[in-house]
Amino acid sequence: MEKDTFYITTPIYYPSDKLHIGHTYCTVATDTLARYHRLKGEDVMFLTGTDEHGQKIEQKADEAGVTPQEFVDRIVEGPRGVRDLWKLMNISNDRFIRTTDDYHVKAIQRIFKRMYDKGDIYKGTYKGKYCTPCESFWTESQLKDGCCPDCGRPVVDAEEEAYFFRLSKYADRIRDLLENTDFLQPRSRVNEMVKNFIDPGLEDLCVSRTSFSWGIPMDFDPKHVVYVWVDALSNYITALGYENDRYNDYKKYWPGINIVGKEIVRFHSIIWPAMLMSLGEPLPKHVFGHGWLLLDGGKMSKSKGNVVDPYLLAEQFGVDALRFFLMRTFPFGSDGNFSNELLIQTINIDLANDLGNLVSRTTAMVEKYFGGTLPTERQEGEPDTELRTMASTLRDRYEAEMERFQFQNALEQVFKTIQRANKYIDENAPWTLAKDPANRARL
Ligand code: MSP
Repeated sequence: MEKDTFYITTPIYYPSDKLHIGHTYCTVATDTLARYHRLKGEDVMFLTGTDEHGQKIEQKADEAGVTPQEFVDRIVEGPRGVRDLWKLMNISNDRFIRTTDDYHVKAIQRIFKRMYDKGDIYKGTYKGKYCTPCESFWTESQLKDGCCPDCGRPVVDAEEEAYFFRLSKYADRIRDLLENTDFLQPRSRVNEMVKNFIDPGLEDLCVSRTSFSWGIPMDFDPKHVVYVWVDALSNYITALGYENDRYNDYKKYWPGINIVGKEIVRFHSIIWPAMLMSLGEPLPKHVFGHGWLLLDGGKMSKSKGNVVDPYLLAEQFGVDALRFFLMRTFPFGSDGNFSNELLIQTINIDLANDLGNLVSRTTAMVEKYFGGTLPTERQEGEPDTELRTMASTLRDRYEAEMERFQFQNALEQVFKTIQRANKYIDENAPWTLAKDPANRARL
């Protein structure tokens, strides 16, 4: 029988700086889903990668006195770079895409041309506001106190001859997709998108740039480079071989699930489906917008410099403990406050006290009373029923939570069972049963 396929992706990260615990959180969560679906016997494709073009990277490289390519190579492939981090964190990705990969570059040129030939991309003049750190264009009405609504920093006036994507043409279909399907999750994100972006009216999107050169040149008008988000979003399909010969499993794996942080839900739930509609391709099964890990209540960000280094945490606490903490502590759809105290507390309570204790006393008693083997003569007792039921229904409860991307709840189910098992040992006091040979079967 053919296995079901399951395709899951992380955002492709900007290699403008070292990645931090926030990026690690998203990648570990996606890895958790990939591993879970492999365990269920599915044929999984798990993609991650890096989003390497754009003005910000060009500027960073300039400041560092190297070419943009050298700059990104170092952050992606260099020591303690992106690839090293995912190796350290035990990330089981099947593929890694860099948007500077040759096959991706050619595929983007074809994708752009296809949308142009369809009449969905046209030439015009761009006038507006641009936030350089976020690589985002904004209209006057979208600004917050005259600044970028995402990061709060100043924006600059921008005017240039540019190509536009007819986003407005897809407004009704996007609204329908958001409001009437479970495409965007969790549901709470839908309202936000509709209220902030769809209701005010979708404007056509500027999808080319001439003010800098670190991007994918349009092959039919090479002084323009393709807008970095068109380049980046397409990674989810070019990495499967869409419009290129490097891979050949687009038909097999697409559509998949895109896991993204809440600040880029806008791109993934509006622009991305509109691009796919224009290309006549299937839409993602779901886009899931997870929350942020906050530090002292505020956003951790590379550009603010208040970041937590996953390397240090992994060295100090161990990779598995760190991964466990991230999945156990924070509800995936909401923001959560990161702290070392919370990390230590979770390791102590869940792993050392509850799980560690259960395993160590169980194995110690099996060793002590039965020489390390499990005897075949057993007598069931009344207190067994509850624990037995809990254990036998655990898988269903666990799976139900995992299907909803609720790692924290899935682990809560597991730990409730572990706690119940500890209590079971206390209630049945094997150490007392062991004193009387008549209790041997019960023991
Ligand atoms: N390159 C774009 C994404 C393109 S996807 C087609 C980008 N890159 S990024 O390097 O800024 O990474 C953004 C993602 O990293 C977020 O969407 C989120 O998944 C993760 N996080 C970055 N900081 C985070 C936190 N503080 N907390 C949780 N996740 C965070 O945007």
